[in-house]
Amino acid sequence: MRLPDGPQLPRWLQLIKWIADPFGYLNQCRQRYGDTFTLRLSGFEPLVFLSHPQAIQAIFTASPSQFDSGRGNGLIQPLLGDNSLVLLDGNRHRQQRKLLLPPFHGERMYSYCQLICELTEEVASRWVVDKPFVARNAMQEITLRVIMGAVFGLREGERYQQLKPMLGQMLDMTGSPLRSSMLFFKFIQQDLGAWSPWGKMLRRKQKINELLQAEIEERRKQDKSNGNDILTLMISVRDENGEPMTDQELKDQLMTLLFAGHETTATALSWALYWIHQLPDVRKKLLQELDGLGNKPDPMTISKLPYLSAICQETLRIYPVAPVTSPRIAKSPIEIMGRQYDTNTILFPCIYLTHHREELYQQASQFKPERFIERQYSAYEYLPFGGGNRLCIGYALAMLEMKLVLATILSRYQLALVDDKPVKPTRRGVTLAPANGIPMVLKGQRLLQSQPQQPLVGSA
Ligand code: HEM
Repeated sequence: MRLPDGPQLPRWLQLIKWIADPFGYLNQCRQRYGDTFTLRLSGFEPLVFLSHPQAIQAIFTASPSQFDSGRGNGLIQPLLGDNSLVLLDGNRHRQQRKLLLPPFHGERMYSYCQLICELTEEVASRWVVDKPFVARNAMQEITLRVIMGAVFGLREGERYQQLKPMLGQMLDMTGSPLRSSMLFFKFIQQDLGAWSPWGKMLRRKQKINELLQAEIEERRKQDKSNGNDILTLMISVRDENGEPMTDQELKDQLMTLLFAGHETTATALSWALYWIHQLPDVRKKLLQELDGLGNKPDPMTISKLPYLSAICQETLRIYPVAPVTSPRIAKSPIEIMGRQYDTNTILFPCIYLTHHREELYQQASQFKPERFIERQYSAYEYLPFGGGNRLCIGYALAMLEMKLVLATILSRYQLALVDDKPVKPTRRGVTLAPANGIPMVLKGQRLLQSQPQQPLVGSA
């Protein structure tokens, strides 16, 4: 079956465009070829990009047995390990997902609120008036510590001190388009010793694995009812056959949560800070909403603030952290919007292009949180966390974290952008982040100095 049209550029050039300027390349392709087109990147099978809500709906509502995704995510296997949820398909995916989901649901989410607010306060209290800092680094410090706290219950101690910089360094290895190339070009993936980029990556991964293994062994010896953290829950869960997760599964899933759970949220938070401080009206409205909260608001109230929620949604719409969802590889022929796709066709629901459809989002290139107050979008029109059976398992945590971090910072600190030039997104591994990391500066505190620096919310 013929695939939808797409650029006829040499494959190597298409790959470079996809690595160096994904949003620009997607825009060009949509203008030329419409809602559905095929990219041919060297080293990859042809990739079909779709951005019509009807097509997205057809994919997200198809039976889970219709598509594989995991085997199309091989790019990040070296970072996460073979058993990572992101790399699994079929029954194993369903089973591991079921085991991993409980800590990310409802009530349990709220047990992380105090942690989030305290860690934000700790990081923000180190900002010095008139001394610039890079917002993305500060947000990464917060989100890495939050995810380590939530996943391991670790906030200090020797293992925490070792693990934290190692995770940061490992993720920074794909922190620019050039360094991200390491994931896309197999020929760079060679262990030429401890100083070669790939060799360094493998050694760091090995060291992290050893630290995770030591933590797992220690936990197994402890009283299981003790901890409220995700690892404790993961160790105690049993599948339908009464089997626990193996150590290797635990390690790979831990790595997945650490990796997927902080990089993405840090990027989203730095974009949110950028938009709030770039657009005085947005900041003014947000401050009005936050100032109406009174002392010690409960986290549930903060998480439901309409304007704050709309800012977070719009932030993830305009520059979604992931430009596409995981691939959907057809396991049998499928028809989508009147077009037939053969078995093994690789389909990519394109988050970015769906979020920039003018008929859904007027003046789509402008940041307008109000659109989310005036209208409700369906799961096929707004999809920053993907959907269907692969929907991001951390979406509720990420949204809660964004709101609590922003509410804590904005209600306490007066910040400004160091310069007001527009900032462009750039590649960081498989995600897209602000090119300059958003330099910001503290202008002063919003509360009287005499008021104690307590977390914004009390224990949940
Ligand atoms: C703003 C923050 C985040 C964004 C934008 C984001 C986005 C995404 C997207 C687009 C997917 C692919 C969904 C699909 O293919 O349909 C995904 C999957 C996933 N995310 Fe997130 N994510 C975020 C935060 C988190 C957090 C906090 C965690 C966990 C602590 C997490 C864990 C995962 C996992 C494990 C998957 C794989 C799910 C599966 O394949 O079944 N993410 N995320």
